[in-house]
Amino acid sequence: MRPALTDYQHLASGKVRELYRIDADHLLFVASDRISAFDYILDSEIPDKGRILTAMSVFFFDYLDAPNHLAGPADDERIPAEVLGRALVVKRLEMMPVECVARGYLTGSGIIDYRATGRVCGIELPDGLTEASKFDVPLFTPATKAELGEHDENVSFEAIVEMVGAQRAAQLRDLTLKIYGEAAGHALSKGIIIADTKFEFGIDGSGDMVLADEVFTPDSSRYWRADAYQEGVVQPSFDKQFVRNWLTGPDSGWDRSGDAPPPALPPDIVEATRARYVEAYERISGLKFADWIGAK
Ligand SMILES: Nc1ncnc2c1ncn2[C@@H]1O[C@H](COP(=O)(O)OP(=O)(O)O)[C@@H](O)[C@H]1O
Ligand SMILES: [Mg+2]
Repeated sequence: MRPALTDYQHLASGKVRELYRIDADHLLFVASDRISAFDYILDSEIPDKGRILTAMSVFFFDYLDAPNHLAGPADDERIPAEVLGRALVVKRLEMMPVECVARGYLTGSGIIDYRATGRVCGIELPDGLTEASKFDVPLFTPATKAELGEHDENVSFEAIVEMVGAQRAAQLRDLTLKIYGEAAGHALSKGIIIADTKFEFGIDGSGDMVLADEVFTPDSSRYWRADAYQEGVVQPSFDKQFVRNWLTGPDSGWDRSGDAPPPALPPDIVEATRARYVEAYERISGLKFADWIGAK
């Protein structure tokens, strides 16, 4: 008999996930169908998104050669039936207070910082870079985690050293760049550029650094089609950028610089976004989403 969700104590709600306590060392990590953009949780849900993100993370945790927080299979008996397919049993970690971002290309907050200062997270960059320029080597561009509703803040490597110490900071940087390199290479062989991505790490009971949270989902990463890549323009994108483009475009009527939250997504944007999530999963993993636990 699987437990019911109500058998577990609810610990926290993130933008997308709910965390429950299984026991002293384990959490139930449940992905919802919620979608966030510009650090707002939108009013619309994307059907199956929680399952797709979970399937994607499981694929990459398995693919990568790095210690991760998974503590059981996706059909683990500790997972309640009502969240099966979008929940994982994970080791409870002491989370590092750092958003570990790797960037292979200049875009998003990176290009905003570059245009203002010539740098990203304190890293001096050559003149003449433009939207979507590829860096000679990927950059570690950490950010500090913002409270709900606030924007993450890009910070220098030195700031991370101050926060977590030199040894931990170097470990975060080296792991971030190594893992990004491995996955970006794989994705490129499937025709997808992972322009940038974000990891969270935590420390386990033995003091080891463990890859946690979600990995290489379209929520935590910018996916671009390799065959359509073109330097100098905002890339038409596979992932959430699609939602972002709609929100910042003329049809939404939303003012990004104002105080009002973004409006609900129209049904065609919801359906197109779901299709993109499925396509991203299937292309990168080589698996069929229909074969995932609970998918129809
Ligand atoms: N193994 C773990 N142990 C404890 N906390 C974790 C672990 N993995 C991820 N987390 C935390 O769980 C939360 C995930 O929920 P999410 O909705 O993605 O939050 P956020 O809005 O911060 O992105 C994050 O706060 C993340 O730091
Ligand atoms: Mg998150």
